[in-house]
Amino acid sequence: MTYNPASTRYENMPYRRCGNSGLKLPAVSLGLWHNFGHDTPHDVKRAMCQTAFDHGITHFDLANNYGPPAGSAEKAFGQILATDFHGYRDELIISSKAGYDMWPGPYGEMGSRKYLIASCDQSLKRMGLDYVDIFYSHRFDPDTPLEETMGALDRIVRSGKALYAGISSYNSEKTKEAVAILKDLGTPCLIHQPAYNILNRWVENDGLKDTLKDLGVGSIAFTPLAQGLLTSKYLGGIPSDSRMAQNKSLWEDQLSVPTLAAIKELNEMASGRDQTLAQMAIAWVLRNEGITTALIGASKPSQIIDCAGAVNNLSFTEAELSNIDRVAQDANINLWAKSSQSDNAPG
Ligand SMILES: NC(=O)c1ccc[n+]([C@@H]2O[C@H](COP(=O)([O-])OP(=O)(O)OC[C@H]3O[C@@H](n4cnc5c(N)ncnc54)[C@H](OP(=O)(O)O)[C@@H]3O)[C@@H](O)[C@H]2O)c1
Repeated sequence: MTYNPASTRYENMPYRRCGNSGLKLPAVSLGLWHNFGHDTPHDVKRAMCQTAFDHGITHFDLANNYGPPAGSAEKAFGQILATDFHGYRDELIISSKAGYDMWPGPYGEMGSRKYLIASCDQSLKRMGLDYVDIFYSHRFDPDTPLEETMGALDRIVRSGKALYAGISSYNSEKTKEAVAILKDLGTPCLIHQPAYNILNRWVENDGLKDTLKDLGVGSIAFTPLAQGLLTSKYLGGIPSDSRMAQNKSLWEDQLSVPTLAAIKELNEMASGRDQTLAQMAIAWVLRNEGITTALIGASKPSQIIDCAGAVNNLSFTEAELSNIDRVAQDANINLWAKSSQSDNAPG
């Protein structure tokens, strides 16, 4: 059936300036890491993308390795672009990344010029695009000179394959170096993509959040819902259709007794704000404009509608914020903690 986007799609979603750039991003963005591979029916993927766009979510985040199998999320999104979003390309911000394991041999991962440029070309082919809006170095590579990785991003932008450059999971120190190199090359760093949520506060502890503000670089916080922990879904056990039940990068040991107790209290606080816990968790990430956009994932369209509703209340009182801090601190669930060095973290 032909898809016609909702005429109301720009009525409720705020669009926030990405750092010092001219680009505005929706307060809530959709990522296609999980549930866009061969394990999900194509109709569900289409319905999620359509629902997102209908609610003002103009930004879709991908990576070469999203699936399973790797590459299949980009292929599925390419089909959706052709069937549903045809004619709407200029209303969309589409990103992709390279850094994790993608193809065999020494040129299929990390941060070399060889890998990044070839991977960007492959992503464009899979999605049927001439360019992506943002192309990222997905993780810091300690074995490649940063000048080479940033030089590859600069080359990708200059050759018209991406409009902007970004980095993901780089720590504060490496971010400063990367941003300086990109600035010298004349391709400013648009955005940083770190993990960040109420239960994962490394961007605060590392100083990254302040660094980005000082440098005028935008930020897109991934896993704002701690992969679903910061929703009401695990309060009554582990639902059979959940990410945890499917062992997709979320395991039972991440739902410790203290974490579950914190989630219960947070859920009550959210009710007191007339929000779902998912909505409060997204609003928390976006508080004080500290982060440009919250990058959610979803397994069904109704979750996207719920998450988009977060924008109806983005402010917190000081008492609410200190209550959240009292109940929940960093829960040691950051799978990407070592990404700024070298590891095999997913995503
Ligand atoms: N740069 C990187 O290294 C990196 C790493 C990871 C992710 N990312 C990006 O960040 C995106 C989001 O990551 P994520 O999927 O982990 O984010 P998330 O928003 O923290 O978790 C998404 C999961 O939460 C559950 N959920 C979402 N909305 C819900 C709602 N309203 N009510 C109840 N449950 C809800 C769903 O779980 P169920 O599936 O159980 O229903 C969904 O799959 C990815 O798609 C990717 O684009 C980037």
